[in-house]
Amino acid sequence: LLAGAAVLLPVLAQAGDLTVGFSQIGSESGWRAAETTVTKQQAKERGLTLKFADAQQKQENQIKALRGFIAQGVDAILLAPVVATGWDQVLEEARDAEIPVILLDRTVDAPQELYLTAVTSDLVHEGAVAGQWLVDAEAGEDCRIVELQGTTGSSPALDRKKGFEQAIADHPNLKIVRSQTGDFTRSQGKVVMESFLKAEAPGSICALYAHNDDMAVGAIQAIKEAGLQPGKDIKIVSIDGVPDAHLAIAHGEMNATIELTPNMAGPALDALEAYLKDGTAPPKWIQTESRLFTAKDDNMAIYEEKKTLGY
Ligand code: AHR
Repeated sequence: LLAGAAVLLPVLAQAGDLTVGFSQIGSESGWRAAETTVTKQQAKERGLTLKFADAQQKQENQIKALRGFIAQGVDAILLAPVVATGWDQVLEEARDAEIPVILLDRTVDAPQELYLTAVTSDLVHEGAVAGQWLVDAEAGEDCRIVELQGTTGSSPALDRKKGFEQAIADHPNLKIVRSQTGDFTRSQGKVVMESFLKAEAPGSICALYAHNDDMAVGAIQAIKEAGLQPGKDIKIVSIDGVPDAHLAIAHGEMNATIELTPNMAGPALDALEAYLKDGTAPPKWIQTESRLFTAKDDNMAIYEEKKTLGY
C-alpha cells in the first residue's frame, strides 16, 4: 500500500467523489486515439472527474502535467509514459503527496513502490509472437527483414524489439538487415520504409516487422509507390490490431497483427476503486491479452466492428 492510503479510505469510498488526472502521451497512432476515447468513456461511466493532459509526445510536458495534478490534489493519476526512464523524481513527489499513480500501456524503469500498478500487455511477448509468426511463414527460407521501431527509449520499442529478436535467434535464415525508428506514426513509417527500399537492392527485402500498425500502414503506401505488392512481395507483421490493419489484411496487403486492447483504463480504474474503497492492493502488473490475427480471421468483419470503437 502507498503510505497514507488508510487515511484516505473513508473519504473516497464513492466513485463520484474522485478526481483522476490522466497524462496521455499524445495522438501518434490510431491505437493511442482509441485509448484516449476509451479512458474518457470509462471515467464518465463511473461518474468520476477526469482531468486530461495531452503531452504532445514530450516527457517534460508529462512531468509538468503530473506536478499540476499533484498541486491540484487529485485523488489519483493515470500515466501513459512516453519513455521508460526519468520518472523517479516526479513519482516520488506523487508518493509524498499520497497520490497513487497507475501506469497505462507502457512501463517505467523506476522502483515498483513508486506506482500502484501497471496495466500493460506483455510487450516482449508481443514481439515474440510477431517473430514466431515470421519463423512459421518463412519455413526455413532465407528472409531479409526490415524493422520499424517505435519511439526511441519507450518500453514497447525496447521490448518488442527484444521479443522479436529472441524469437528469430535460432533461425539463421531470418536476418534483420535494417532497423530504424518510425516514432509509432504513419507518416514516419512511410518515410523510413521509403529509405529502406532505396537502400536495399530491388526485390531483396522479404519482410517488414513494424512495432505498431500505424507505421505498417504508412509503409504499405511506400511499398505500393515502389511498385511492389505489400503482403506478397514483402510480408508484413505488426502490433495493435487497429481497424486499418484488419482492412489491410482483408485486402491481402498485410499478413498479421497482434491485438493490443485500448481499454487499459477499465482494469486500471477497477483496481483504483478497490484500493481506495478498502485498501485492496492490486498486483504490480495487470496484464492485458495479446492475440494474433492473420488472414485466417474474418478481418473485414473485425474492421467493421472495431471502426465503431473510437479508433
Ligand atoms: O504503448 C502502446 C503503443 O503506443 C502502441 O502500440 C502504439 O500504437 C502506441 O503509440
